[in-house]
Amino acid sequence: MAKFKWIYAFVALAMLLALLPIGSVNAAPTNALACAKTYTVSAGDTLSAISDKEYGDIKAYWPIMAGTNLMNKEDASFARVENPDSIEVGWKLCIPSADDAKAFLAQFPGPNTPAGVSMLFGKGAKGQLIVASWWTNGGEFAGLNEMFKMFKQQNPDVEIVNAAIAGGAGTNFKGQLLSQLLGGVAPDTFQLHAGWEADTYDPGTLIVNVDDVYKRNNLEAVFPPTLLKMLKFKDHYWGVPVNIHRSNVLWYNKALFEKAGITAAPATWDEFFAAADKLKAAGIQPVALGGKDGFELQHTFEGILAGSMTADEYAGLWTGATSWKSPKVAQALETFKKYLTYANADHDALTWAAATQLLIDGKAAMNIMGDWANGQFVAANFTNYGWEPVPGSKGTYVALSDSFALPAKAPNPDNANLWLDLAGSRPAQEAFNKLKGSICARTDCDYSTYNAYLQSAAKDWQVDSIVPSVTHGAAAKPSWAKAYTDAITLFGTSGDVAATQAALAQAAADAGYPQ
Ligand code: GAL
Repeated sequence: MAKFKWIYAFVALAMLLALLPIGSVNAAPTNALACAKTYTVSAGDTLSAISDKEYGDIKAYWPIMAGTNLMNKEDASFARVENPDSIEVGWKLCIPSADDAKAFLAQFPGPNTPAGVSMLFGKGAKGQLIVASWWTNGGEFAGLNEMFKMFKQQNPDVEIVNAAIAGGAGTNFKGQLLSQLLGGVAPDTFQLHAGWEADTYDPGTLIVNVDDVYKRNNLEAVFPPTLLKMLKFKDHYWGVPVNIHRSNVLWYNKALFEKAGITAAPATWDEFFAAADKLKAAGIQPVALGGKDGFELQHTFEGILAGSMTADEYAGLWTGATSWKSPKVAQALETFKKYLTYANADHDALTWAAATQLLIDGKAAMNIMGDWANGQFVAANFTNYGWEPVPGSKGTYVALSDSFALPAKAPNPDNANLWLDLAGSRPAQEAFNKLKGSICARTDCDYSTYNAYLQSAAKDWQVDSIVPSVTHGAAAKPSWAKAYTDAITLFGTSGDVAATQAALAQAAADAGYPQ
C-alpha cells in the first residue's frame, strides 16, 4: 500500500508550493539519465540540500529522484525514492551530471502531471501503466490500491505510476488533464464519469472509444441497461465503469443524534430542521459542509432539488421536460438557503473529506455527500453512523459512475488495455467498491461481505428511479454543468433565490432548452 501512497501527498505538496514552474506540456517523457556519481545518504541529508550542493539549486532534485529510481530497476542496491521529502540514511542515490539534470528539468512538465510523474519512475520490462485520477482520499485511495495490487500481480513487469491529482470531484484534475491531452501528452488511462463528461475530451480525438474492451469482455451483458445508456455517448463507449455511486445521501453521527435526543433519521425537511434545531440547542454543530474543492455546494443542491420534486421531474430538468422556472426549484433554493444557515461557517476552507471528518470526529452531526463518504468511514474504522436519502428524495437514486478512459496518445496502450480489462472484471470491482463506498457497475457482484450501507444501496439501485447527477458528469453537457456550478457558487454568498433561479433557467436555455 505504502508503495503508491506517497504520490498524492507529494502531488498536493507540489501544487501548494509550486516547487517548479510547469514546463512545456509538449515535452515527451524521457528516461535517459545516466549517473555521474553515486551518493550515500547520511544523517540530516535532504534531497533539496543534496541538489543545492550538486547543482546550486535547492529545487533541482527531481533528476536525482528519477535517476535513482531508474537505477533501482536494474540494481537493487540503489534506493527507490517514492517521496522526495523522505529519504533514509544509508540509501544509495544516483546523481546525474549537471548537464543531464538540466536537460531532464527542461523536459520535466512538473510533478503534478501524468507525464511528469511518469518521468520520475523507471519502466518495467513491459513499460509503465500511468493511471490518472483524483482519488487521493482514504476510501478512494484504498479502493484504487486494491486494483493496483491486482494489476501488479497479473503484470509484474509493468511499472504502475499513480498520477493522481488531489481535489474532490476532479475539480483540479479535469482542467489539468485536458491541457495535457491538448498538448499531446497523455496518461495511459484516466478517471472519467459516465455520461456527458466524455464531451470534455473531444471523444474520437483526445480519447478513443473502448467498444472493443466491451466486446472482448462481454460487458454489455453484465452492466445494467440504465448504466449502459448513461455510458453510451455519440454511439460509443468511452470508458469502462468500475462502480455506481449515489449522490443524494444524508449521513449522520448516531452518537450526536442520541445526545440531542433525536430518535429517527429525518425523512422530510421539516424533520430535518427540527433535528438541526435540537442539535443546535444541545451545543452540537448540526451540519458539516465543505466547499474548498468547488463542488460540495453544487452537490448538496442537486440532492435537495431531487428531494423537492418527483424523480421524473428532476430528470426532466436536464431534458427540457421540466422548467427551471418551476416553483419547486424556488422551493429547493429556499431549502438550500436555510440548510446553509446550519452549516459550519468555514465551509469554504474545508474539502469534502475534511467535512466528512467532522462527522467522524463527532464535531458535526449531519452531512449531505455522495457515498464515497462511506469509503471514508470504512477507512477511518468509523461505524457509528446512519444514513437516509436526502429528505424528500426517497425512491430517487441520483447516480453517477466512475469509469476509465483510453487517451488516443496513451504511451503504453497495451498496458492500458490490460487495465481496462481488469477494471471491468468482477474480482476487481468486488475488491474496489467495498472500500470505495460504491456498488459495482456489474450486476453479478457478491455483496455478502459488504457493509450494511452498501448492501442497502445495492437494493435501492434495483427498485429506485435512477436519475443522473449534474455535479459528477452525468446529467448535462460540460458548458451547462459549468453554468450550473457558477450559479450555485454565487448563491452560496448571495442567497438570492430569484436571481439564482433566473440564472439556472438561463443556463438551461443556453444549453438548448428554452424555458
Ligand atoms: C466524484 C467521484 C467519486 C469521488 C468524489 C470525491 O466525482 O465520482 O468517485 O471520488 O468525486 O472526490
